[in-house]
Amino acid sequence: MKRNIFDKAEGEDRIFKDERYLYPEFVPERLSHRDSEINSLVYAFNPVAKGGKPHNVFVTGTTGTGKTVSVKYVLNELEEYSDRAKKLYLNCFEYNSRHAILAAIANFLGAPLPRRGLATDEIYSKMLEAMKKVDFFPIIILDEIDQIMNATESSNLLYDLLRVIEYQRNRFGLAIISNDPAFTAKLDSRVKSSLAEETVVFNPYTPIQIKDILKERANYAFQRSALSEEVIPVAAAHAAKRGGDARVAIEALWKAGREAERENAEKVELKHLKKAFELVDSVSALKHVKELDNNEKAVLKIIAEFSPIASGEMYEKYCASEKEPLSQRRVSEFITNLEKRNLVSAALISMGNKGKTRQISLTTSKEAVLKELTD
Ligand SMILES: Nc1ncnc2c1ncn2[C@@H]1O[C@H](COP(=O)(O)OP(=O)(O)O)[C@@H](O)[C@H]1O
Ligand SMILES: [Mg+2]
Repeated sequence: MKRNIFDKAEGEDRIFKDERYLYPEFVPERLSHRDSEINSLVYAFNPVAKGGKPHNVFVTGTTGTGKTVSVKYVLNELEEYSDRAKKLYLNCFEYNSRHAILAAIANFLGAPLPRRGLATDEIYSKMLEAMKKVDFFPIIILDEIDQIMNATESSNLLYDLLRVIEYQRNRFGLAIISNDPAFTAKLDSRVKSSLAEETVVFNPYTPIQIKDILKERANYAFQRSALSEEVIPVAAAHAAKRGGDARVAIEALWKAGREAERENAEKVELKHLKKAFELVDSVSALKHVKELDNNEKAVLKIIAEFSPIASGEMYEKYCASEKEPLSQRRVSEFITNLEKRNLVSAALISMGNKGKTRQISLTTSKEAVLKELTD
């Protein structure tokens, strides 16, 4: 009988048992090493379970420390515990204006929004109306709040939301997540204090913690003995170097599995992991190009074109290309910034009897960087 080419026989998946456990948005059934953060979140939302008003929460910490997954986990549990509670998760990368966010909330509350575009203030009144009729307790999560277009837009939005919480009889809970611990400092002080009634800080994972997390995810995702022994420790060490970022580690493990599968290998070996690091690092580094200021971009462009290049030579080319070049010291700071973002690496190399110089090279592909710079 002819078998469809997508229909693999039992046992043919040598590497993966279930890849879904490695998806970045997957929420595991338990989260290791986040007990105290989870307890703080539970404390903040506990009143909802008892019919009261929760504390507004501000969650902060660097990338990959488990902010998103922990907030989702706690609110999933709350929804399971109390059928009154219902969460709306919005990532401000996608919903990046006051208009888009209020519309999504109004929609979540069941407000009928007409097809013709409404002005933002009209949407706000629709949202208020719907809030009065709603028969559940809404909890709004605004993730990556710093991605909202600009500061005015986000403080207006937060002001709108806090106004509802303070003055309406029907209230809702709010969880704000940001990588930037100083996010609330930029807001006006009244908004700030009611927004962050509770602040939960997520610290980077240690290498040992990342190793535990990886082991758990790998147990579900991979076939028994599909990973050669060194893979998890090396992936954990790499992620620790990247600032304790669990996402980098999980993504690398997943890509390594994919690579092994593609090669039809028996096991995931270190060489597959190395290839995966390259992919993961270059993708995550390239995301930072858009965040650079124009001076940093100018420096990166020269490095991209001439990599590897000695720092002195790089500075000469920079001066030649700029009308008002900045000092060598400033440019050297830019290079440090580019290094932190993992876009370039600088190595001290010996020039024989002429001493030492910093040689700067691009960590990712030249074409990809130049494309990001011109897009
Ligand atoms: N304690 C943990 N146990 C299992 N997986 C975790 C844990 N912490 C983070 N992760 C996973 O690591 C990745 C990054 O976590 P995430 O919550 O997205 O970080 P953040 O929002 O802080 O950038 C996600 O895939 C998440 O599922
Ligand atoms: Mg997140």
